[in-house]
Amino acid sequence: MPKVSFDEQLLARRSRLLGPAYRLFYDEPFHPVRGEGVWLYDKAETPWLDAYNNVACVGHSHPQVVDAIARQAATLNTHTRYLHEGVLDYAERLLATMPEALSHATFTCTGSEANDLAMRIATAHTQGSGLIVTQFAYHGVTSALACASPSLGQYVQLGAHVRLVAPPSGGDAQTGSRFADGVRAAIADLQANGIKPAALLVDTVFSSDGVFTAPAGFLREAVEAIRAAGGVFIADEVQPGFGRTGEAFWGFMRHGVVPDIVTMGKPMGNGHPVAGVAVKPEVMRAFGQASRYFNTFGGNPVSMAAASAVLDVLTQEGLQRNALEVGHYLRERLLGLGQRHPQIGEVRGAGLFMGVELVTDRVTRAPATALAAQIVNGLRQRQVLLSATGPHAHVLKIRPPLVFRREHADFLVERLDAVLNDIHQG
Ligand SMILES: Cc1ncc(COP(=O)(O)O)c(C=O)c1O
Repeated sequence: MPKVSFDEQLLARRSRLLGPAYRLFYDEPFHPVRGEGVWLYDKAETPWLDAYNNVACVGHSHPQVVDAIARQAATLNTHTRYLHEGVLDYAERLLATMPEALSHATFTCTGSEANDLAMRIATAHTQGSGLIVTQFAYHGVTSALACASPSLGQYVQLGAHVRLVAPPSGGDAQTGSRFADGVRAAIADLQANGIKPAALLVDTVFSSDGVFTAPAGFLREAVEAIRAAGGVFIADEVQPGFGRTGEAFWGFMRHGVVPDIVTMGKPMGNGHPVAGVAVKPEVMRAFGQASRYFNTFGGNPVSMAAASAVLDVLTQEGLQRNALEVGHYLRERLLGLGQRHPQIGEVRGAGLFMGVELVTDRVTRAPATALAAQIVNGLRQRQVLLSATGPHAHVLKIRPPLVFRREHADFLVERLDAVLNDIHQG
């Protein structure tokens, strides 16, 4: 009988135990056993460059974060119904990174919970229910968010109160007004159907739509439009938050707007499940009066210690600045690669959040979906981990831990060059 490998056994066990809804990355699934900095290692100690994981923002298994978690776990872990300084100290530090108007913080365990709570706050404040999101948005796993996450495609039915708008593509001076036109049309359609607008909810780097970041400022007009209709603006910072864009600590700041509600998660605890909401007190008032909020694990002392350590490391290691500098370097190198490989269309993004569009034709910009899948799998074989995004899955999504340095950018670009050459020759 042929011998079944360890990973094949694991795959069979996985599907037997976890069922059919889970998906794996890559044609040949990857099995890391430990992580350090920007590297993930398999059991043979072969290093893989992680160019995809924005959760481990200060680097995989950062000792300062691990130590903070261990020390607090060994001392006390309870919840927010007892007094504890940890949640207050962290709230103070977090809110200090935001515009002054955002002066209440609420903690959850996941980005989905944060967005779900944001929707409840927006609904209570506006007495409306209409929700505007982008055409290929992803905002979370709860029922309320899955029905406003069109990127889940066939798996979800959009809510009757949800309207979709085209993402702010183009990168030209009219990007903002085109986007705002879409938002105004969505508002008009909600109103024509007797639905009061509650919120415009966007990921401020539009990651699942294909990564759209330019020109900075393009959100302004759309935010004015939703407010004029009585709704609020919710900035979903789950992807760009905590310094990733290099230019600002929060993605919305690049656009010169102050959201009514900000949601965050992923990198907040460097892998520990902690997430949250920052909100203007006047927007929070109606929800706070109508309901109590308790989330068993949200804001617990261990989570707050993890999140606090992440803020320490981000500052101590100058990682927002690193994102700016290395992001710029990587962008230049990718543009250089584009001169030799006509399949590379636009190189978009800010800091260490980048989207590399792949096209079959530079003039028509027809999406090269199959090529993107080949590249993602080819890079996986050459020890670089990333993925593809956008409605046609033809935009390489690059968002490594923020401890990504120039030598890592070189490694990525050289391997991408080799994969493109292989494909060309094959
Ligand atoms: C923009 C955005 N919002 C919300 C979420 C949901 O976060 P979580 O998976 O922590 O629930 C995600 C997750 O990928 C996301 O990308």
